[in-house]
Amino acid sequence: MQVIRSLSQMMQLNYPLGKSVGFIPTMGYLHRGHLSLVEASKKECDITVVSIFVNPAQFGPREDLSSYPRNIDRDLKQLEKLGVDYVFIPSEGMIYPEGFNTWVEVKALSEILCGNSRPGHFKGVCTIVLKLINVVRPDKMFMGEKDYQQLMILKKMLRDLNLRTRIVCCPIVRETDGLAMSSRNSYLSTADRALALSLYNALMQAKKAVSEGKTDAHMLIALAKQTIRIAGANVDYVEILDSRDLSEQETIDEHSRMLIAAYVGNTRLIDNLSLSSGE
Ligand code: PAJ
Repeated sequence: MQVIRSLSQMMQLNYPLGKSVGFIPTMGYLHRGHLSLVEASKKECDITVVSIFVNPAQFGPREDLSSYPRNIDRDLKQLEKLGVDYVFIPSEGMIYPEGFNTWVEVKALSEILCGNSRPGHFKGVCTIVLKLINVVRPDKMFMGEKDYQQLMILKKMLRDLNLRTRIVCCPIVRETDGLAMSSRNSYLSTADRALALSLYNALMQAKKAVSEGKTDAHMLIALAKQTIRIAGANVDYVEILDSRDLSEQETIDEHSRMLIAAYVGNTRLIDNLSLSSGE
């Protein structure tokens, strides 16, 4: 495994002719969710590249950039074990040099859900991911459904800007009790950890109600909000949207997906689930 810390070295890297390149962009502090993306790339592609970069541009002024968990040594050990070929770890100065002033924005899709409560967040995500794609030049980029809105926005960006990289969506990896794995789970105290489970419980409750014939989205949303509030977490949003384009739905169908964001103490957690029985 080669660790590359220079931008020009990564840009000039010559992949062997005809080999497919899989890429997993991350902000580090890797868990099994991240590693599942690496495994998918190892299966589908000849060469696997992982990037680790805590992107300041996607954090708001009152968000957790300075406290975001980091452990590069442990990350590298895990990636080495999985047989990753290249790990790209750029510095902030390389990515955003003095005078950097170009931003990529996907309108509409970035203005709902997390975009509402985190203004500018997706502009930061799109800009870094486009830069990383230009530097790494992957055939496929592996991303988790955990960040469902991010996935949809980046797919749209790649289509709108005619990039040849394709996104491969991978399922959410969960703890045994259902909590979606997240680097931010490390912020949770034991008491908060129990509250955090209310997001998953609310999603499963909605899925069960749908399997029993409930189809009114408003009713299901109200029920989910109540479950989270009773547990003691603060709802940011609960929405039921069409999983293909994140448009609103009044009535449940096979494309319905419930998406949740909630604060557990100071920690903002997100989760989502398809409400159809097939998934
Ligand atoms: P990060 O939160 O580190 O996530 C990197 C990738 O891991 C994303 O595609 C995310 O959806 C996926 N992931 C996280 N938790 C997961 C889980 N429990 N199961 C499956 N996949 C999971 O997302 C980012 O970083 C950044 O926004 C980034 C795209 C790197 C741009 O800075």
